[in-house]
Amino acid sequence: MAKVTVVGAGAVGATCADVVAKKGFCNEVVLLDIKEGLAEGKALDMFQTASILGFDSRLVGSTNDYSKTANSDVVVITSGLPRKPGMTREELISVNAGIVKSVTENILAHSPNAIIVMISNPLDTMTYLAHTAFNIPRNRIIGMGGLLDSARFKCYLALELNCSPKDLQANVIGGHGDTTMIPLTRYASLSGIPVSQLISPERLQQIVSDTMVGGATLTKLIGTSAWYAPGAAAATVAEAIIMDQKKIIPCCTSLNGEYGLNDICIGVPVVLGRNGMERIVEIDLNDEEKTLLNKSADAVRNMNDVLKTM
Ligand code: 2OP
Repeated sequence: MAKVTVVGAGAVGATCADVVAKKGFCNEVVLLDIKEGLAEGKALDMFQTASILGFDSRLVGSTNDYSKTANSDVVVITSGLPRKPGMTREELISVNAGIVKSVTENILAHSPNAIIVMISNPLDTMTYLAHTAFNIPRNRIIGMGGLLDSARFKCYLALELNCSPKDLQANVIGGHGDTTMIPLTRYASLSGIPVSQLISPERLQQIVSDTMVGGATLTKLIGTSAWYAPGAAAATVAEAIIMDQKKIIPCCTSLNGEYGLNDICIGVPVVLGRNGMERIVEIDLNDEEKTLLNKSADAVRNMNDVLKTM
């Protein structure tokens, strides 16, 4: 039996806990928040859907009591400020770095072997911060950005092609930022048919641009960061780990020479299983894609450098 903790009972964290409970792959889901009563209330509300929807995962809420998170197999960290309209993810760095550091420390004190799934922004820098500040082995610290960005890519492809999103294969690599993510059009297909055979180059370029600002588009519409797709994506990463699915999912991971990059956490396809990030999949990139990945890595490094000034 497995236990998942979600830190942060805001919209993303609550959605993640809800999806984890409904998927039914663990017996206990702990939702923790600093705001008095928020996590307890949301967890109880969710557990009241159990008899209606037919699941039996137990949901537990906690106001900052990390002892309730003890011995979690997977911990999803969503803590920190979300984006406001017009804000980049990068602008959140100074506030969120302090929050993420203290949350990670508390989590590791009670679940030293947990696999951590980071969602807090700026994602690549927060993943790097947790990895380097606490020497967490790279298989146990995973940033959830690529699955979300790939889902947005598939959403726009499905709208264009009027097809089932389930029939699409499409990956986004690179940083989880409006200018750093790289939707790989060359590897995108509909039931094995390359999308470049089905969509004009101009429309495909528009889909790439829409994908890259997918989060910002929603922030503008809603007034804050999105939560349904981010929460569902994090729950799916937790499921792939706990169920040892060996799924290939683009995630932010620490690179050690792969793709020619070192000392950085950035999105690339990885195999997820019971040991967390079990293997980095190195796909062939052409010169243009390599240039984009190197530029993306430069931008992520600049953000990581801000940590040194704090
Ligand atoms: C997003 O892209 C929250 O970063 C997340 O919506």
